[in-house]
Amino acid sequence: MSNRRQFLNRSALAALAASLGLWAPGKSQAFSPYRKKHNPNSSKGGPVAIATWDNRKATEAAWNVLSKNGYALDAAEQGAWIPEADPNDTSVGYGGFPDRDGFVTLDACVMDEHSNAGSVTFLEHILHPVSVARKVMEKTPHVMLSGEGALQFALAEGFQKQNLLTETARQAWEKWKKDNGYTPPTHDTIGILALDQQNRICGACTTSGWGFKMRGRVGDSPIIGAGLYVDNEVGAATATGQGELMLKTLSSFMIVELMRGGATPQEACEEAVARIAKKFPGQVENGSVQVGVLALARDGHHGAYGLRKGYSYALFQHGENKHFPATHLV
Ligand code: GLY
Repeated sequence: MSNRRQFLNRSALAALAASLGLWAPGKSQAFSPYRKKHNPNSSKGGPVAIATWDNRKATEAAWNVLSKNGYALDAAEQGAWIPEADPNDTSVGYGGFPDRDGFVTLDACVMDEHSNAGSVTFLEHILHPVSVARKVMEKTPHVMLSGEGALQFALAEGFQKQNLLTETARQAWEKWKKDNGYTPPTHDTIGILALDQQNRICGACTTSGWGFKMRGRVGDSPIIGAGLYVDNEVGAATATGQGELMLKTLSSFMIVELMRGGATPQEACEEAVARIAKKFPGQVENGSVQVGVLALARDGHHGAYGLRKGYSYALFQHGENKHFPATHLV
């Protein structure tokens, strides 16, 4: 790494550390609050599939690709298909809770090992928005398509239009209209990260968003840097929970940049959640707001952290598919 690049990395990290109160110029410590516990730029760590919440069926689908020496992007996409098609998952795809007007609107994105990205927002009627996002990445000069334009693109690409509102979700919406609450989401949005045997890291994130949201609301999940970020030199990160908080802090990008500066994936996740808590203390006091992040370094190490108890993740590594509770801030 050039001296100039090292300097820029250190300056950015020092500024972030100082803003979090972790480091101040003149303190008798190394410039960085992070010890170099591992080098994310170095060793081979795959295959690994990791996903937000108890999405073990998704990590299993991803592992089926990775274990056959498949491509990390196929693994992430095929993992994301599982909750997208699950009528019992009320935060993703088919069966997702509708907006306040009764329409299921979906957000999704993908990012590959070359930092290519594709995204769809406010998409209706398509079972697998993650695959439309991949087509946006692969077949257009754009990163993001939204709403009617995203739907037209999907139909032109051969995706079928279908009703995504299940009877269970419709009844929940009818009940919500009577109660008329606007409770912040805890979300089981899936963010899934995959590292393949050729050291390629890719990711996907897909959601139906905040249940009974305002029509047109888009969360963090399809926004590159907020709901998902991948840099194959370093690693990847993804997020779940109240998307407005990740949108305002670009949590996934922050996590990857912290790892670039030497933070472990766990330290980077903790910093991203701490930043949210510091900036938005009212949201921390609101006991129903949840945030959860995941990180996967190029060397196969991972990190996970929630704002509060209850966040968890699925990890398929070394041939074993496990579900873990994440540590949390409050
Ligand atoms: N994290 C998903 C959303 O807020 O829409």
